[in-house]
Formats: sequence, structure tokens, C-alpha cells
Amino acid sequence: MTVPVMRPWLGAEELEAVTEVLASGWVAQGPKVAAFEEEIARAVHANHGVAVSSCTAGLHLALHLLGVGPGDEVIVPSLSFIATANSVLQTGARPVFADVDDATQNLTAKTIEPCLSDRTAAVMVVHQAGVPANLTAIHELTGPRGIPVVEDAACALGSTYQGAPIGSHGNLTVFSFHPRKIITTGEGGMVVVDGDDSAARLRRLREHGMNQSAFARHASSGPVLEAYLEPGFNYRMTDLQAAVGLAQMGRLDVIVAERRARAARYQELLWDVPGLQVVADPSDGTTNFQSFWVVLPDDFPVTRDELLARLDQAGVSARRGIMAAHLEPAYAASSFEPLPVTERLTSRSLILPLFHGITDADQERVVSVVRAAAEVVA
Ligand SMILES: Cc1ncc(COP(=O)(O)O)c(C=O)c1O
Repeated sequence: MTVPVMRPWLGAEELEAVTEVLASGWVAQGPKVAAFEEEIARAVHANHGVAVSSCTAGLHLALHLLGVGPGDEVIVPSLSFIATANSVLQTGARPVFADVDDATQNLTAKTIEPCLSDRTAAVMVVHQAGVPANLTAIHELTGPRGIPVVEDAACALGSTYQGAPIGSHGNLTVFSFHPRKIITTGEGGMVVVDGDDSAARLRRLREHGMNQSAFARHASSGPVLEAYLEPGFNYRMTDLQAAVGLAQMGRLDVIVAERRARAARYQELLWDVPGLQVVADPSDGTTNFQSFWVVLPDDFPVTRDELLARLDQAGVSARRGIMAAHLEPAYAASSFEPLPVTERLTSRSLILPLFHGITDADQERVVSVVRAAAEVVA
């Protein structure tokens, strides 16, 4: 049987939760979405959660809330899923690609600084693969200049920075619930924010700019005439999805603990492969190990793609490492400064299977292929 790169942990609770919503007759955005928002906000120590249809939608909404638009620049890593850069383009602004740190694969104050200009309207920091970025140094750079930070925390639910959950550091922060992420709702995202006015406007914007939600009108005893205060979007999550998310949230701590234990086991089994760099906690935070990436040294005996092929032949579904948006045809017409660390990491890295329920034998199968390719004896 193939070892998948990721497998969501879905069970009887999710089935029961969805059945309950179906039986209720209200399947669109409603009370389950509101409960899921509260649950996420509680878990990440933020004042408000605003559920949306995807993290990509949430990133776009966050930038829209900040007033980012044509003529603006937003600094982003190229080394990220392409949604990060695409969300900037959706506003009409220009993504400016900054390089990343070799150890964390994240933006740092040092890589952001050369990209600043008088058109910089925001910095979008990605906690790549769940590894928290160094927010303090980034805030020291952006704060005095009045540049807002948006956190793309698609992968970082359950990660911490300086002892506090990602989502609690005062920026608009957006999570994803795609099945490759820590918990899933099938598709879905959540913007978390502290300001009451920001939360109210985000709620409006995700629902066509309406000042009364469809559920509030449905639940009202009398007729309610809604107004459309500004042009908005349809970025709503459904109660079916939120019910699954609530069931998943009941297991968040167990999921993160298990991923950390399994990652530690990979680290132990791979520590003596010469030059192999493996994902690890940074000095100022903890990762949820959303992805277990490894970077092959330049003198590794086989290429990254050959190693992927060998893993595939052994029944292991690994993936190339984090992509680089600037190397994709979609961004071929863009100009950018040299991104040497990004280019090395994207060409030399791969993601090994890690999911709740991966067995010792699965991990040993993965590791044995890597060790054989590295020509490490025993
Ligand atoms: C860093 C990052 N940002 C954004 C996204 C987009 O998330 P969604 O699929 O929920 O729109 C992803 C998903 O893979 C991601 O990894």
C-alpha cells in the first residue's frame, strides 16, 4: 500500500456533525460557522475569527481591508504556494518577491528590507510549512514605517511564536483548512483579527457587503431589510464545513502532538545522513510540522527528482519541496531581484509523508529509501 504524503483524520464525529447540520435544514453560513469562528479565535488567542471559503479568499480580503490596490506593492516570499502571490495580484497591487532564510524557509527582516519602497503597502509573512517566522524583527522593521503585516498562516494552526499561538501577534492572520493542512473543512479559511471594526467589516465584505447576514434575516421574527454598504464578495463558508471544522478542533492538540512526535522520529532516523537539512523548530518558536521537508546537500548522490522517483517506486508518495512562484509561467512577465536561497531550496528540497496515523513501518520505509540513495550504510 502506498504511504500518502498526507491523510486527513476524519471520523465518526465529523459524520455526526454533518448529519446534524443536514437535519437542521440550514446548510449555508449560520450558527455552526459562528461557533467555529469562536473556537478558532479562542484557540489562537485572537478577539475575532471570520470564516471564509479558503485561505486564498481570506488573504485577498485582508489586503482589501487594508486598502491595498493598484499602484501598491506587497512584499511576499516567492517560496510559497502560489496563492500567496496570487492574492496580491487579485487586489491589483504588485507582489514584490523577497528571498528567504535558509534555515526556516521564511522571510526575515533582513530579506524584506531591500524590497521596501515608497509604494510598499503591506508585507505578507508566510509561516512556511508551519515554521513560525521571526515576527519581532519584522515588526521592528515595518512598525516605524507604518507598514501593516499580514500573516499567511495557511499551514500554521497550532504553531507558536515566543510562547504564544500563531494568530495572537496582533496582525491580520489567515489560516487554511484545505486537507493538506493541520485540520480540514474540505476547503475553507479563517481570518483572525483583534479589532472589532475590522472584524465587522470583514464579515460584511465576505457576504456581498451586506449589513445583515442571511442567517440573521432568516432567524428574525419579522422582516429585515438588509443594506449593501460597499461592494463585497461571496467568500462564505457553509455550516456543513464549519461543523466538520468544529469536530476537527476537538483534536487539534492531539494532532499537533502526534505530528511533533513523528517528526522527532524522522529527525532521529535521518540525523546521520551527511549534509541533509531537515525541518526543525526555530529558536523562538515551535512548528506543527505541517510539512516535513528535507533539503538535499549539493553533493547528494542522486538528484531530488531521482529521489522522488525512487520513493514513488517504493510506494511512498513524497512531494517536491515548497514551490517558487517567480519560476512559474504565471509570473514569467514579472521582474524581481535575484532570489538565490529560494532557488536553491525549491530545487533541492522534498516533503516526506507525515500524517496522523503514520506507522513506524511507514516511516522506516520512507527513511530506508532516503538512506539508500544517500549511500549511508545501515
Ligand atoms: C502558504 C499557503 N498560503 C495559501 C494557501 C492557500 O490555501 P487555500 O487552499 O485554503 O486557499 C496555501 C495552501 O496550500 C499555502 O500553503
